[in-house]
This record gives sequence, structure tokens and C-alpha cells, in this order.
Amino acid sequence: MAPQTATKIILSGNRPTGRLHLGNYTGALENWVALQKEYRCYFMVADWHVLTTDYQHTAQIAGNTHEMVLDWIGAGLDPETSTIFVQSHVKEHAELYLLLAMLISTARLERNPTLKEQVRDLKIDEGEEGMSYGHLGYPVLQAADILIYRAHVVPVGEDQLPHIEITREIARKFNRLYGEVFPVPDGKLTKFARFPGLDGRRMSKSLGNTIDLADSPEEIQKKISTAFTDPQRKRRTDPGRPEVCLIYTYWQKFKPSEAAEIYEGCTTAKLGCVECKQRVGRAIAEYLAPLREKRAALEARAGAVEEVIHAGDAKARRAAAETMAEVREKMHIG
Ligand code: TRP
Repeated sequence: MAPQTATKIILSGNRPTGRLHLGNYTGALENWVALQKEYRCYFMVADWHVLTTDYQHTAQIAGNTHEMVLDWIGAGLDPETSTIFVQSHVKEHAELYLLLAMLISTARLERNPTLKEQVRDLKIDEGEEGMSYGHLGYPVLQAADILIYRAHVVPVGEDQLPHIEITREIARKFNRLYGEVFPVPDGKLTKFARFPGLDGRRMSKSLGNTIDLADSPEEIQKKISTAFTDPQRKRRTDPGRPEVCLIYTYWQKFKPSEAAEIYEGCTTAKLGCVECKQRVGRAIAEYLAPLREKRAALEARAGAVEEVIHAGDAKARRAAAETMAEVREKMHIG
């Protein structure tokens, strides 16, 4: 189905934290690119959401937005068919957020497992004031993002599912109290939700274990050479266990046509880790070459990203304004 005639709507977004890595790609972006063919898509830079944890550092947000949108388009998001926009440029999200905030209890928000995890990761110590009111309301803002476009499907990582559940509860409650406005959206998970980084932990910018989409072939080789492999394979002559080796996961993802040969070479000790890594580094660089080229071409055109965002903002605003007119009417307010 052509996106213009597609009736089902998708919304998803990311907080702008800078350049994207392979984990972002396999966990979300790649899926978004494919979904563009079947759905009317909105892809949002969630810059207000950055403030929930990082309100002290606002200077980087604009630059990070620029880098992320370059990666998005490089990877195949198409601004002609999808709406690519920035959350804070569509003020209606804030209005809906305020209204929806009345429809959920603080106890329900405190039970959110993703929030509990974040609090643990933030290591808020006793001396500090703890979580902000805005942070507690993170999923309510997310619900506003989703519902304002009347999205049916929200492709996200596993950690976001609790937020989608809260969105569903809020949508049902709104519809029951004031009348049907919002579809109850479904979350949609990707297969590679947890992609391993160079140290075997989940690939994450904050862990410093990433390969970035914009990395050059040389950077990729250098990073791959530091990657962990099967710890039991101490000598070159020891057979390896691909099933526990993150390099093999990379093979499966980026060059599956050679994965069987690699498996056999590793388990029979015919293939050493150094060579295997060099080869997988080349395979990843090859896989990323078209993304990198497209990104570079866009980057070279001054103002191109801003143009995309400007056009996306306008489309998003139109849709959001329409929903808000209906919301105000149904609620008899504003
Ligand atoms: N919370 C999401 C993340 O951290 C970003 C986000 C904000 C989002 N609003 C959204 C994702 C709406 C999907 C739908 O990745």
C-alpha cells in the first residue's frame, strides 16, 4: 500500500543523544524504514523528553537533533513519505500532556518498571532531591506524543512497553469519559531488541561500546579489534563457541550469507579471532557504506536537515491541531 493511501498510523521517536549506533539501528531504525511502506509514519525527535533526565545540559540538544536526523535519513527514513519532526516545535503536545496528566494516578506512574530502572541508573543519592515531577510524568508526555497523531502502532524497544501500556490506559479512560477520540495503540517489538556492544553488554552510548552508523571503515576496524570474543578460546588452536561470541552475532546480522562458513571455521579452529574480526569489520563497513554516503551527501547540503524538519513540523502541527480541536470540544474546555 502506498503511504499516501495507508490508513494505519505509526508514531515513534527517540531522544536526541547524538549519533546513532548499530544497536539503535537494529533495535528500531531498520524496522522504521521497513514500516514506511505500509503505514503513514510520524518520526519524532523527543527533545522535551531529554529534559526529564538531563535538564542541566540543554546546549547539546540542537546539535544532537541534527546528527540524529542525518542518521535517520542516511538509514532510509524518507522525508517525502514520512513526517520527520521535532516534539518541541509542536506545542500542542504540551497542551494534551497537561490534560492527560489528570487521567492517571501518581501511584500508577510510580509503579512503572522502566522508571524504576532509570532511577537506579541515575544513582540519585540521598543528598539530592530525587526524581523530578517532569520525570515522573515521562510516560504521560509520551502518551500525548502518540495519541495526538491518533497512532495505531508504536514500534519501540522492550524498555518502552510499560509506557505504551500507560498510553493505552489513558486512551481508554479518555474515550470512556469524553467520547471516542483515540485509537488504543499497540506496541510493536523488534527482533534484535538487545544488540551486543563491543564488550558484550548491551550496545549503548553511555557504556562506550558502540559502533556508530557514521563511523568510517577504519574506525570500525579499530573498534572491532578491541571487541570481546569467546573467553574460553585462549589459544589460536582452541575451537571457539560462536553461539556465545558477539562477533558471530554481528556476522548473523551483517553478512548472514557467510555465517555458516564462519561457524564451521571457528568451531574447528581453522579460523582465528583476529582474521574473523577483520573480516566482520569489512562486512559491517560494506553494509553501512550506502548509509554513510547518503548521510554525507545530506550533510554537505547546508540547510537540508533544517528544511526536512521545517516541512515535517508543519505537517505534524496540522495533524496535532486537528486532534486538539476535537479534544477541546469533547472536553468542553479551551
Ligand atoms: N521514550 C522514548 C525513548 O526514550 C522516546 C519517545 C518519546 C517515544 N515519545 C515517544 C517513543 C512516543 C515512541 C512513541 O526512546
